[in-house]
Amino acid sequence: MESEKKISAVQMTDRDLSEQIKQVTKDCHERAENTELMLSFQRGKVTLPQFKVLLCSLYEVYQALEEEMDRNSNHPGVAPIYFPAELARLKTLAKDLEFFYGQNWREKIVVPAATKRYCHRIRQLGRENPEFLIAHAYTRYLGDLSGGQVLGRIAQKSLGLKSSDGLSFFAFPGVSSPNLFKQLYRSRMNSVALTEEERNGVLEEAVRAFELNIQVFDDLQKMVNISENAQQNYSTKSTAVNTLQISNTLIKASPLFTMVLGLFVALATVSMGIYAF
Ligand code: HEM
Repeated sequence: MESEKKISAVQMTDRDLSEQIKQVTKDCHERAENTELMLSFQRGKVTLPQFKVLLCSLYEVYQALEEEMDRNSNHPGVAPIYFPAELARLKTLAKDLEFFYGQNWREKIVVPAATKRYCHRIRQLGRENPEFLIAHAYTRYLGDLSGGQVLGRIAQKSLGLKSSDGLSFFAFPGVSSPNLFKQLYRSRMNSVALTEEERNGVLEEAVRAFELNIQVFDDLQKMVNISENAQQNYSTKSTAVNTLQISNTLIKASPLFTMVLGLFVALATVSMGIYAF
C-alpha cells in the first residue's frame, strides 16, 4: 500500500499512545502467549478441535468488532484507524469455517461464555464509548499482523494442511508489508486526539482486551479438555466392551447377551457422536 511507505521515517516517542499501549499490555501479552491454547500453537501441537473452536470464537469477536467499527467509522476516535480493506477478518473467518465445518457451518458454531462477554464489551463500547474501540482493534489486528503470522504457518504444519485452505484468517492480501503497515497503524493511533482521561481509558481498555482474550483461550481449552475426556471415557468403556466381546466369543455367550451388548455399543456410539466435533 502506498500509504505504508510514507510513514517509514516517523519517529515514535514514549508519550505516544502506540508506545504506551505496548508498555501497559506487555505483561498481559506474555500471559496470553503462555495460555495452554497459545502454547499448543507455539509447540507445533495445535489440534484440529482446538483450531476449530478458536475459529468459531474469533468469528464472533470479529463480527462484533467489525460491525462496531463500521458503524462508528466516522467517529474521530475510529476514523484514523479504520482500514477495512486491509484488515477486515470476518469474511476470511467465514471461509475457513466453511472449509472445516461444511456449508451449514453457521449452525455448528459453539462459543464459550467468555466469548459472549468479550463481544458484549465491544458492542457496549460501540454504543457508549467508540473512542475505546481503538484498544480492541489494536489488540486484535496488530496481534494478527505480528505473532499471528507465525501462528498461521505453524497451524498449517501441525494440522497437515496441504494448501492455504482453512487458513485465510492469517492472510492479509491488502497488506504488502506487515511491518510497514504496523508503523502506519501506530502513527494513526498517535494522531487520535484524546484527553488525558480518554487516553487512560484507552490504555485500561487495552489491558481489558488482552484479559478478555485470555479468558476466551482458557474457556476454549476447557471445552476441548471436556470433549477429550468424554472421548477417553468412551474408549475406556469401549475397551471394556472389546474385552467382553473377546470373552463373548471365547465363552460363546447366549444370543440374548449378544443382543444386549450390541444395543449398548450402539447407544455408546450415538453419545460419542454428540460429543464429537
Ligand atoms: C502464541 C502466542 C503469541 C506470540 C508468539 C506472539 C508474538 C508476538 C510478537 C513476536 C510480536 C511482535 C513484537 C514487536 O514487534 O515488538 C507481537 C506483537 C503483538 N502481539 Fe502477540 N503473540 C502472541 C499472542 C498474542 C495474542 C493472543 C494477542 C492478543 C490477543 C497478541 C497481541 C499482540 C499485539 C497487539 C502486538 C503488537 C505490539 C505492538 O507493537 O504494539 N499477541 N506478538
